[in-house]
Amino acid sequence: MSKTVVLMGSPRLQSNTDMLANSVIEGIRSAGSANDTIEKFDLVELQDCVCIACGHCRQAGECIHFPQVTEVLNKIKEADGLVIATPTWWLAPSSQLKIFMDHWGTFLKMDYSSRIEGKKAVLVSCCGNPDLNFANKVNKQLEEILNLLGVKVVASLGVKGVVEVGAIARDQESLDAARELGKKLYR
Ligand SMILES: Cc1cc2nc3c(=O)[nH]c(=O)nc-3n(C[C@H](O)[C@H](O)[C@H](O)COP(=O)(O)O)c2cc1C
Repeated sequence: MSKTVVLMGSPRLQSNTDMLANSVIEGIRSAGSANDTIEKFDLVELQDCVCIACGHCRQAGECIHFPQVTEVLNKIKEADGLVIATPTWWLAPSSQLKIFMDHWGTFLKMDYSSRIEGKKAVLVSCCGNPDLNFANKVNKQLEEILNLLGVKVVASLGVKGVVEVGAIARDQESLDAARELGKKLYR
């Protein structure tokens, strides 16, 4: 039985990121068992929870200002695996994902060891540029951060050339690749 947390970083309805995340979820389900749990969090709901750098999280292992953030952080602590899905915003993850990640000090103990070491992750990012795959760049940034926390990124997918809402629906190849990504999470 596996527990997976999915972080979805686009604020748009019917977003490309959300559709890609759903394909990853399909892949996890298809390779898993009936007892597996997958919880998806739409990070737009936490976008007002901006880190104020009080520094308490490292010691406390929680965010003392935003209990709703701590709730999701605790879900990650309890999970076996993580799916992170984000659009590319200026060669970086979306603000919504970044605002949530700024609370990851919670995962880092005072001695810089990790509270989430040993978990697995898959990453999926998309970008509008049809030629330059900035989404791969975003995945690399995320992988570096996750490695610092002892989380192993087992696979990632960067999709380029999707600009408007729902454009990914015309890119079955990328949706299929996202499904395959999901299958790899616990393989
Ligand atoms: C604030 C902002 C910044 C963006 N920056 C980039 C970028 O640096 N490179 C790029 O190729 N696309 C960029 N885009 C385009 C998005 O990555 C693209 O539209 C993506 O499909 C959005 O995903 P979504 O539908 O899941 O929200 C940007 C979009 C926004 C709103």
